[in-house]
Amino acid sequence: MGTFFSEPGWLCLTVTAVLGGTIFCKLKKSQGQVGRKVVCLAGLWGGACLLRLSLFWGLILFSLSCFLVYTYFSGQELLPADQKAVLITGGDSGIGHALSKYLDELGFTVFAGVLDEKGSGAEELRRTCSKRLSVLQLDITNPQQIKDAHSKVKEKVQNGGLWAVVNNAGVLGLPTDGELIPMTEYKRCMAVNFFGAVEVTKAFLPLLRKSKGRLVNISSMAV
Ligand SMILES: NC(=O)c1ccc[n+]([C@@H]2O[C@H](COP(=O)([O-])OP(=O)(O)OC[C@H]3O[C@@H](n4cnc5c(N)ncnc54)[C@H](OP(=O)(O)O)[C@@H]3O)[C@@H](O)[C@H]2O)c1
Repeated sequence: MGTFFSEPGWLCLTVTAVLGGTIFCKLKKSQGQVGRKVVCLAGLWGGACLLRLSLFWGLILFSLSCFLVYTYFSGQELLPADQKAVLITGGDSGIGHALSKYLDELGFTVFAGVLDEKGSGAEELRRTCSKRLSVLQLDITNPQQIKDAHSKVKEKVQNGGLWAVVNNAGVLGLPTDGELIPMTEYKRCMAVNFFGAVEVTKAFLPLLRKSKGRLVNISSMAV
C-alpha cells in the first residue's frame, strides 16, 4: 500500500486515468458494442498490469497497450449519423423493426416502410422513436405504394438523397419439401423477396446515387 501512494504510484494513477479517459472518450463516440468491450478490457488490463508487475513495468506495458488500442480504433470511427437518411422495408417486425429503432437511436433519419401502417409494429415505432423517424405505408408488391413512399422520401430529404436502402422485407413461405409447396407460395415468395426488392431498388436508386449511398439486401437461404 505504501508504494502505491508514493510519488511514482500517483504518477502511475494519473497517467492511467488520462490514457483511460482519452480512450474512453474516443470509443464512446463510436457508440458500438466493440467500444464498450474495449473500454472494459482496457480497464481490466490496466488493473492486471498494476497488480502483477512492478509499477514501472506495469505503467510501461499499460501505456503501450493504451497507445496501440487508441491508434487502432481512432482509424475505425463510424461516420457521423446526422443528416443521413435510410429507408428500411419490412419495419413492422423482426430485423427491419429492430434496425429502424437502432438507426433512429444512432441519429439517422429513418424511413421505416411497413406493410401495415396501422399495425402494432408501426404504432410502436411512432411511439418509441424520435421525430426524425417516418413510418411509411409500403407494401413492396404494390407499385403505387412504392411510388407514394418515394415521393414522401424525396420531399423530406430534398437534395440530400438517401444514404442507404435496406431491402429487408421478406416472406419465408412454407419450409417444407419443394415438391409439396404449392405454386401460389413460390409466386408469393418471388413477388415479395425478389420482384418487390427489385422494384424498390429501381425506384430509389436515383436518391441513393445523390449521396453515393449503399444498397443493402437481406435475404435467406430458406427462401
Ligand atoms: N430471422 C432470421 O434468422 C433470418 C435469417 C436469414 C435471413 N433473414 C431475412 O431477413 C429479413 C427479415 O427477416 P425477419 O426474421 O425479421 O422476418 P419478419 O419478422 O417476418 O420480417 C419481415 C417483415 O417483412 C414484412 N413484409 C412481408 N411482406 C411484405 C411486403 N409485401 N411488403 C412490405 N413488407 C412485407 C413482414 O410483415 P408481416 O409480419 O406483417 O408479414 C415483416 O414485418 C427477411 O428478408 C429474411 O428472409 C432472416
